[in-house]
Amino acid sequence: MAYERQELSAAAAEEQREICARINAVLGPGERYALVDTYGCQQNESDSEILRGYLAAMGYSFTEEEERADVVVVNTCAVREHAQMRVFGNVGALSAQKREHPEKIVVLCGCMAQSPEIREKVKRSYRVVDLCFGTNELWRFPALFEKTLEVHGLPGNRGRVFEATDEALVAEGLPRQRDGKVKAWLSIMNGCNNFCSYCIVPYVRGRERSRRSEEIAAEAESLVLAGYKDITLLGQNVNSYGRGLEGELNFAGLLRKINAIDGDFRIRFMTSHPKDATEELFTAMAECEKVAPHLHLPLQSGSDRILKAMNRGYTAESYLKKTELARKLIPGLVLTTDIIVGFPGETEEDFLDTLRLTETVGYDSMFTFIYSPRPGTPAASWENGASREEIQNRFDRLLKSANAQAAAIHKAQEGKTLRVLIDATNKGEYTLSSRSAGGRLVHLRGDASLLGRWAQVKITGSNTFALFGEII
Ligand code: 5AD
Ligand code: SF4
Repeated sequence: MAYERQELSAAAAEEQREICARINAVLGPGERYALVDTYGCQQNESDSEILRGYLAAMGYSFTEEEERADVVVVNTCAVREHAQMRVFGNVGALSAQKREHPEKIVVLCGCMAQSPEIREKVKRSYRVVDLCFGTNELWRFPALFEKTLEVHGLPGNRGRVFEATDEALVAEGLPRQRDGKVKAWLSIMNGCNNFCSYCIVPYVRGRERSRRSEEIAAEAESLVLAGYKDITLLGQNVNSYGRGLEGELNFAGLLRKINAIDGDFRIRFMTSHPKDATEELFTAMAECEKVAPHLHLPLQSGSDRILKAMNRGYTAESYLKKTELARKLIPGLVLTTDIIVGFPGETEEDFLDTLRLTETVGYDSMFTFIYSPRPGTPAASWENGASREEIQNRFDRLLKSANAQAAAIHKAQEGKTLRVLIDATNKGEYTLSSRSAGGRLVHLRGDASLLGRWAQVKITGSNTFALFGEII
């Protein structure tokens, strides 16, 4: 079936807002609280901001305490089994509270809920869940919530709503309650067409679809006007931005367009697929002064045999060449990556190829994962020759190397002066956290009133995870 990009109509978005107002009126003036619990990636964090935007429009305030929440929304991740188990554990644990407070509404949404098998399991075994809907239903959360409210009070509390469609729309004009005032997520596209053989994302988030660059630039502009100083463009594979949208900019063009917006802010982006990262992109990064010199470039494996089985579309050699080119073109480039250990068929030799390649590239930080078979993906049915112990041992060795690489790179920053954005407050001696242009975490001492400010800092110390500095 050919994929057709479809946009949500403005009228449909407006209708959802009207439903929020209706729910607000029906529930009346009393205080009510919601908790939105987010698992997984930044895209999910961004989706949770829309859930909160809708809930705020229904008159809900937000709480971190489950007991206090009238509505608990669990926005789930399906990328690894571990996250899924945690979701089931936490949702199961809500049953006791629900017994005492049957009026509490539990919502399970996001990537897990897009899978028919999981919806079936929730329907059968997690009766605590009142509403369960997939990623494609996010835009119509108010309509589904209204339906849930209607059936929720039915005798025996048997009214439950389960919905998911395959129809993925590009939705503009949805309300959003953002976390924080300094850093903002800006989703530029959704879905993925790559079908890496281990990955569930294309199945739960659908085919790639990009927003229009005018809409993205308008949102970026409003964020800058609202005082946000760090904007992260989000997409499963930002390098293929604009593909299939006639006359649209490509990702390098989009970076240039956002860079041209007036204001003192930084542009970051996540995630780049190595096969689509081009010289044009690196040049745009180098030429756009607001674009952070940071590339998160998931390698996954350093073995050509495994990369092929993963359907990644590049070789160890071509990956290395790209990182060399990027480093040459972008001064002070910070490189980070994702690695999967224990993919089916990975031998000790394959693993050593990965270890060696990561050491050759030199990463500031590596997100390391043990391969987790995802039902429905091709690799899930492949034999894994290595034992759990072997895989754990490889993982431990990789982590040790990753930590050593990070510590050495961080150590080399000591004595340098960096421009940072102060973006968080902490308990303890170092009361502030900040990020360098390349995204390195720098802990500082200073007053909370500095939150959201730029500062020049001298780096005085470091460890595996962070730098320490003094404001000068
Ligand atoms: N098992 C382990 N790690 C996975 N990732 C994606 N799918 C799986 C899986 N089935 C990792 C990849 C990806 C990151 C977001 O999660 O490294 O880049
Ligand atoms: Fe998954 Fe590969 Fe798409 Fe990333 S590029 S979301 S790993 S299928």
